[in-house]
Amino acid sequence: MTSLAISQALLLKIIEFLEANSILASNNPKPSFKIPSIAISTTLLSLCSILLLAARIFVFWKKGSPHALPPGPKPWPIVGNLPELLRNKPTFRWIHKMMEDMGSEILCIRLGNVHVISVTSPEIAVEFLKKHDAVFSSRPICLSAELTSNGYLTTALTPLGEHWKKMRRVLATSVLSPMRHRWLAGKRAEEVDHLVRYVFNQGGLVNVREATQHYCGNVIRKMIFGKRFFGEGREDGGPGVEEQEHVNGIFTILDYLYSFCVSDYVPFLRWRMDLDGHERIMRRAIQSVTKYQDPKIDERIRQWNEGTRKEQEDLLDVLIMLKDKDGSSPLLSPDEIKAQIVELMIATVDNPSNAVEWALAEMINQPETLERAKKELDQVVGKDRLVQESDLPNLNYIKSCVREAFRLHPIAPFNVPHVSVSDATVAGYFIPKGSHVLLSRPGLGRNPRAWTDPLRFRPERHLKEDGSDVVLTDPDLRMLSFSIGRRGCAGVTLGSTMAVMLMALLVQGFNWELPPNVSEIELKESDGDLFLSKPLVALARPRLAEDLYLPG
Ligand code: HEM
Repeated sequence: MTSLAISQALLLKIIEFLEANSILASNNPKPSFKIPSIAISTTLLSLCSILLLAARIFVFWKKGSPHALPPGPKPWPIVGNLPELLRNKPTFRWIHKMMEDMGSEILCIRLGNVHVISVTSPEIAVEFLKKHDAVFSSRPICLSAELTSNGYLTTALTPLGEHWKKMRRVLATSVLSPMRHRWLAGKRAEEVDHLVRYVFNQGGLVNVREATQHYCGNVIRKMIFGKRFFGEGREDGGPGVEEQEHVNGIFTILDYLYSFCVSDYVPFLRWRMDLDGHERIMRRAIQSVTKYQDPKIDERIRQWNEGTRKEQEDLLDVLIMLKDKDGSSPLLSPDEIKAQIVELMIATVDNPSNAVEWALAEMINQPETLERAKKELDQVVGKDRLVQESDLPNLNYIKSCVREAFRLHPIAPFNVPHVSVSDATVAGYFIPKGSHVLLSRPGLGRNPRAWTDPLRFRPERHLKEDGSDVVLTDPDLRMLSFSIGRRGCAGVTLGSTMAVMLMALLVQGFNWELPPNVSEIELKESDGDLFLSKPLVALARPRLAEDLYLPG
């Protein structure tokens, strides 16, 4: 009960009491004693004040001291900090600059009627996602997520509720389980051969971004659809036009997802007008992905219905053949399958490809790190065969390089937003129900309290003295790779395998050098996002026997 409700209830009680004693009964023909009306008002007012005070003390005593919101810029009435949001692009740099200027590791801005809380402190981040995990486990309702998930039919983008539970269970038990991971190992292995052949065929200068993004796109397409190409592909093993369009569509979706669209914070604008043009861009990007995927999904459903397909060979078969509790009807509708596949695509391609591109760029500038990585591969794998997934547990230095790239160069400025389902007090601050919590990935990974020399790429910092396994997760959130809690990444094993395998292959297969006439790779972030400002182009010289690149 709020203090206002309590005071109202008490006020009613007083009126009842006064009426019962005929003090206020105006229609009482014979009052037992007469009180002047001014005296009645004064008495009533004083009583109300006392009771209001009592109610406040009661609420204070019940809830503890009232807490303030986290620090932040003063909001305007109604619109909050939307005017500043519109003036300061990109939004993530504006938010980080404010936090730096204020010397605060938690910040609150109000966008329309939504409190947006940004966090760069590992301790506070853990408090949000561990201690208060149940409260902060929902996702925002917003245009970009609604379009991408086709009305919240998926997992990652779907607010807390029964549908999210169902989809999360499907992923955990049928799509990303350890058994399924092993089942799909052969498909991932085929992409290993394709990647080294493609880089080898470039014959020198290689666009590393293109290679890493298409490797990830190829792996997940292969696991889901059982085939690599949507179109014909290229002679040299590179992506065809269709694949380029598919992967570009995925990255455009990622770019606009949760990208501070004004109408998301002003409910009456939602679905009325495309103020910042985001809706048009998102719809087009989604279409450029689904136009390749959806016909294949429809065709496969038809094959199962007609009985022309009999064996499950890939994840699409698995999703189609899942049955409900009775075992009689499909568990997932065609629309759910289509939307979930879009989400699996966007969940897979960005993090590993970006981490490996940055790691390689950093390592070319520090050749001793590349030497150490090659030495590890030569010791663990040798030079007579390509690295395999079974080698990965023994490649701690390679894993440290990937982990260091996740720490220093995360692909996204913020974690996927978490939304609170009730009021909470975190780190001594009041966080109202419905707040959007954005954990800053660079803010955590570069926090000088958590890391020495935080801006330097130093993989060794992750090696453990006892030589034990390096992993890419971080339960203490000193860096945000896969996050933690009930909304933590569902694809840790697959994501780690892909990222480490990609790094290991590129280092084992090639000597990486600066392009001619370049003295150093420029390690500069783009202004608008956290990608390397220009795609990494470097010289790749094969270091293994030719038949390993061009088998058969
Ligand atoms: C290196 C690769 C990857 C990284 C760094 C990564 C990171 C993340 C992060 C930071 C989140 C948000 C966690 C949160 O909200 O607190 C997330 C969620 C998620 N990830 Fe990943 N991810 C990776 C690969 C994958 C892969 C390969 C898949 C599946 C194919 C996947 C599926 C998901 C799903 C389904 C969620 C949403 C979980 C939920 O909301 O319940 N991820 N991931």
